[in-house]
Amino acid sequence: MDEIQAKERIAILSDEIRKHNHQYYVLSCPTIGDFEFDQLLAELIRLEKDFPQLAEPDSPTQHVGGEITKEFKQVEHKYPMLSLGNTYSEEEIREFEERIQKITGDEVEYVCELKFDGVAIGLTYRNGQLMQAVTRGDGIRGDDVTSNIKTIKSIPLKLMGNDFPAEFEIRGEIILPHASFEKMNEQRLEDGDDPFANPRNAASGSLKMQDSAEVARRNLDGFFYYLPGNEHPFNTHYECLTAARSWGFKISEYAVRCKTSEEIFDYINTWSVARYNLPFDIDGVVIKVNNLKQQEKLGYTAKSPRWAISYKFKAEQAATKLLSVAFQVGRTGAITPVANLQPVQLAGTVVKRASLHNADIISALDVRIGDMIFVEKGGEIIPKIIGVDFDKRPDDAMPLKFISKCPECDTVLVRTEGESAWYCPNENGCPPQIKGKLEHFISRKAMNIDSLGEGKIEILFDNDLVHNCADLYDLTYDHLIGLEKTYESSDEKKDRKISFREKTVANILNGLESSKNISFDRVLYALGIRFIGETVAKKLACHFMSVEKLQEAEFNELTEVEEIGEKIARSIISWFSFSKNIELINRLRIAGIQLSMDESIVLKLSDILSGKTFVVSGVFEKFSRDELKKTIELHGGKNIGSISSKTSYLLAGENMGPEKRKKADKLAIPIISEIDFINILEAK
Ligand code: IVH
Repeated sequence: MDEIQAKERIAILSDEIRKHNHQYYVLSCPTIGDFEFDQLLAELIRLEKDFPQLAEPDSPTQHVGGEITKEFKQVEHKYPMLSLGNTYSEEEIREFEERIQKITGDEVEYVCELKFDGVAIGLTYRNGQLMQAVTRGDGIRGDDVTSNIKTIKSIPLKLMGNDFPAEFEIRGEIILPHASFEKMNEQRLEDGDDPFANPRNAASGSLKMQDSAEVARRNLDGFFYYLPGNEHPFNTHYECLTAARSWGFKISEYAVRCKTSEEIFDYINTWSVARYNLPFDIDGVVIKVNNLKQQEKLGYTAKSPRWAISYKFKAEQAATKLLSVAFQVGRTGAITPVANLQPVQLAGTVVKRASLHNADIISALDVRIGDMIFVEKGGEIIPKIIGVDFDKRPDDAMPLKFISKCPECDTVLVRTEGESAWYCPNENGCPPQIKGKLEHFISRKAMNIDSLGEGKIEILFDNDLVHNCADLYDLTYDHLIGLEKTYESSDEKKDRKISFREKTVANILNGLESSKNISFDRVLYALGIRFIGETVAKKLACHFMSVEKLQEAEFNELTEVEEIGEKIARSIISWFSFSKNIELINRLRIAGIQLSMDESIVLKLSDILSGKTFVVSGVFEKFSRDELKKTIELHGGKNIGSISSKTSYLLAGENMGPEKRKKADKLAIPIISEIDFINILEAK
């Protein structure tokens, strides 16, 4: 066969195989026997091997995998990957509808869909070819897992039809069907590997594998449910779904349009039962406004669209016996009582332990050792004890006593008024707190030093090399080389040996070096200050821009920042009041860690407001004041506190002080409403 003939044959085979894949994996309606299919595929693989120059990147042979990814590249999402507001009750759904009604002032149609319990993914197609697949990550940046996604046979590598946009993104969920999950876990047990706890974890673990040929064997699947942006010509979400289906995507056949609350509730009620007959997990239902113009009008909060909401199914419950209670010390020193249970099957997994929250809940539950109790498990949440079956209480059931001293360092526990948790105050001397803080510091969303993961912190701590995060940056080759430890893994009996050889040491030192590029917001999160999670750290970093400014901030200045309440403000002030922490910051600064925001990388959406100054005052209907201020900055404008002749606009909401209006009138400063402001932005 010459090259011209091969090219022709490759095109025919590719087309044929693509169609069969679509029939089998997307429509579940095979049109060819396995044997014949395998022959077609084998022929294509052979031809591509003989004529490698003819192998196309979107060839169906790509589904077989083979590419190895050592490290997944981090990619910024074109549109942030937001989450959805959760509800658990019909009442909240009604409130959602009322909100929407009020803002749109129009008749609203909804689309109800299944909420797939998997791993979110965004696929980018250019000229009908799959170019990139990115996981959610932190919503702003995710991992490029394209080579692994290409192995999923229901995901089109080349689109059907010709009416798709030249470039667009489609979002969906990668799931692992029950049958594949069970098969995979059986295999893992046989191989001596730990089984995955649930299909979602298995899907997530599979997407992060380095060998895509192995991913191909896992039988992942994907459902798609959203076209972000407006690169397409459609007016409704439902049209988007229908079009995407015609391009070859797997779109659930259970998406329906609803006009009334009753129809929405019917859908929820049906699926809260029918979900058990599905071959994959769903954890709720998603309700979306169908009309895209209305969606646009509704907009977004910082975290989620206002035009959609998810109704989460209630967690499953089981009854079992409480055998004993252990007290664990977390990285913040908080004491968590953990119940050891008689193993019980719950929501597809065997539960042996459950959280007992805190001392108050223990007394409120009146739970005793030996009791039959009810455990509940929902999604990611650790199973928790929700009640006691008092009828079954044995006579010798033992009341639970909360400890008064730290089980790890014997320090007397303390409790802040108004808080439920007991704490070990020995922050800098209690081993699990020190190790926990270090583990947090190096974790992925913090400093992302994965070369220090998997027990290495423990070795450094045991060898007296590190007690706090600044110590990490004093580590040298000589400290590290040759360190080793054998330790028992927590779940299984298998012992593991870790030893620091040349390569490990080089990786650790490189990892520490690279962490010096991590932006200030993540450094702030990494410090592990109580109540400062990822989002709060971002808000604080963007507001104060540097650690010095944050340290100087007074209580009122802190609580003025969006989402910063009194509890967080107090925690920050208290943290900076310890000289040990100031010393820590100084050492991190000397080590070269980023302790201020790099202004050049602060996100800009446009320059349309550049040179314009705004005073934002009053209460607004669609956005919070902080959201408006942020939007002004994102478009190049500036916010100022009081009106002067240099002010470009007074952005006025309800209940604005009369003095401001008077002053604006006097200086002839244009007073604009929220709608005027949106119009200015949309004119760009
Ligand atoms: S729409 C802008 N539809 O649930 C929000 N999400 O808890 C677009 N999910 O991040 C998401 N099924 O990963 C949407 N039918 C569905 C979904 C769905 C599952 C996931 C998705 C989302 C998360 C929110």
